[in-house]
Amino acid sequence: MAFPESRPRRLRKTEALRALVRETILTPADFIWPLFVVPGTHVEQPIKSMPGQSRWSADRAADEARRAWDLGVKAVILFGIPEAKDATGSHAFKKDGPVPETIRAIAKAVPGMVIMTDVCMCEYTDHGHCGVVEKGEVLNDPTLELLAKEALTHARAGAHVVAPSDMMDGRVGFIREQLDEEGFEDVAIMAYSAKYASAFYGPFRDAADSAPAFGDRRSYQMDPANFNEALREALLDEEEGADIVMVKPAGPYLDIVRAVREQTDLPLAAYQVSGEYAMIHAAAERGWLDLDRATLESLVGIKRAGADMILTYFAPRACELLK
Ligand code: PBG
Repeated sequence: MAFPESRPRRLRKTEALRALVRETILTPADFIWPLFVVPGTHVEQPIKSMPGQSRWSADRAADEARRAWDLGVKAVILFGIPEAKDATGSHAFKKDGPVPETIRAIAKAVPGMVIMTDVCMCEYTDHGHCGVVEKGEVLNDPTLELLAKEALTHARAGAHVVAPSDMMDGRVGFIREQLDEEGFEDVAIMAYSAKYASAFYGPFRDAADSAPAFGDRRSYQMDPANFNEALREALLDEEEGADIVMVKPAGPYLDIVRAVREQTDLPLAAYQVSGEYAMIHAAAERGWLDLDRATLESLVGIKRAGADMILTYFAPRACELLK
């Protein structure tokens, strides 16, 4: 039916009508809030390029998790910034490091909260790469051992979900095997399956002090030009036992989110990364767009593309906006 019979505007007349035909509904249960955690107590270090986000010590992170929980946030993902960095990232395995301490603090302060952890070496190595480096190369198989050790450290502290973000080949299967061997068959794996070598991680690398000291991550993270490869990566992670697959970044990769959604029945996460967050804030600060509206629009777009859950620094604020 064409005009004048068909008038799509009929269903846009009032908010009640629009609500009836609305296809995508954001809810607080969609969000996972990333938190940066540091050693010490009573620490709050605001992150300049990420307005409203800070690095917290475990005690303060637990307070923040409590505040977020009260707003409706049901899941957090922890990124650790260690006391010291070295060539093999040995602080990733410390059982009293900031991530294990924060897991325990949040579990105590907010018993229902889903606690996820980012599993990667780049925050812990002095060269800032995501694995073992030899002659300027990031070695795949030796890195798997480190990642599994880090995942186990988090599982032992009580993490519910571990999320390898390194992009080494075979890491999901390797971590699954090690978790099972140690009796952590209930700890889930959320795989950063299609993680692109993106410029949009800039503010995160400031926050985590994890920019590579030489070169870049293009020998392990994906080429932004590739689509089919993302499907292969997601399939591999599914075969290796991932419980959740992820696409990252989210906004510039919505085609990938949709395509992975259509390929797999696994729950799908999308990561609205630091640069996406920073861009919206920066434009809003200049008065160039409305912060609250842009926040919700950016998130509903990611969900509409097919994500079941969204990792976003906006999580607590978005919950307030959805009230
Ligand atoms: C660790 C990791 C990164 C991000 C999440 N996990 C940084 C990177 O790969 O350089 C980026 C998150 C963000 O930008 O918000 N490998």
